[in-house]
Amino acid sequence: MDLTIRPRRLRSSDCLRRMVRETRVSPDSLIYPLFLIEGENIVEPIPSLEGQYRYSPDRVGEAVEACLKAGVTRVLLFGIPAHKDACGSSAWDENGIVQQGIRAIKEQYPQCYIITDVCMCEYTSHGHCGILCGETVDNDKTLEVLSKTALSHVKAGADMVAPSDMMDGRVAAIRKTLDEAGYTNIPIMAYSAKYASAFYGPFRDAAGSAPAFGDRRGYQMDPHNRKEAIRECALDVEEGADILMVKPALSYLDVIREVSDTFDLPLCAYQVSGEYAMIKAAGAAGLIDEYRLLCESALSIYRAGANILITYYAKELAEAMGKGDMG
Ligand code: PBG
Repeated sequence: MDLTIRPRRLRSSDCLRRMVRETRVSPDSLIYPLFLIEGENIVEPIPSLEGQYRYSPDRVGEAVEACLKAGVTRVLLFGIPAHKDACGSSAWDENGIVQQGIRAIKEQYPQCYIITDVCMCEYTSHGHCGILCGETVDNDKTLEVLSKTALSHVKAGADMVAPSDMMDGRVAAIRKTLDEAGYTNIPIMAYSAKYASAFYGPFRDAAGSAPAFGDRRGYQMDPHNRKEAIRECALDVEEGADILMVKPALSYLDVIREVSDTFDLPLCAYQVSGEYAMIKAAGAAGLIDEYRLLCESALSIYRAGANILITYYAKELAEAMGKGDMG
């Protein structure tokens, strides 16, 4: 055959394939989500997320140590409070569950970089992401409690805050509050294009944050929309976000690509609970090779344009990346 161009030439050995790779990944880009629960001496498995646990502040160090050992230095904290009320007041309590967790981690592992999820749904009795007015979430009233919550996380020692509520104007409100308190150096990672997704199912079970009525379509994005994601990101950029995020990841690779092409900020993708649970379940059923799939799905998210990845598989991925063996 007279074939001058043969793409297979560059695929002929492992050594060569590694040399010509377009996507290079590093454990530095990984963030591991951690669930904190009020109480003492608790490490309890999360039934909806096999292999994931809820930790009381006195034992969360064990989870952090395992992360550090695997090469994961960045964590994203979620809190499950003992007390919930209509306005979610324990979210900004200086002795709230996340605040206790931050202090406990920083005391033992100051090198651990702590990002906190800022949202009201785990703290409100109705499970919505803000303050209700009738049956809808009041945007502007919610900005106030989100800002207070972000500030209290930073005061407790958080290195970065990540608002996930999808209220309009929350990045600007949080930025202003942090700046006024002197925290001009604390970055905001905005859940900019966060879709109203069925993929969050296992998380809501893990965090006890399912809405008591209705759904989150009044504030999270409609999965039909792509241009709207660009608009949401543009607003967050204007409001002072330091890092943008697309969430979920695998079903929204087109959005990740477009946001990465359009904006010059670092871009994070969140491989959410449902994505993890599906891979776990299919692996446990013997239908797929779990290791290869967790690597391949992560690679596809990076290839789409994400620079940073939040995933429940962070430890496994860090080890895979460290060995240079992504399946
Ligand atoms: C809080 C929040 C959620 C997730 C991250 N932050 C749940 C939701 O919006 O209902 C989902 C994470 C996951 O599914 O892994 N609002």
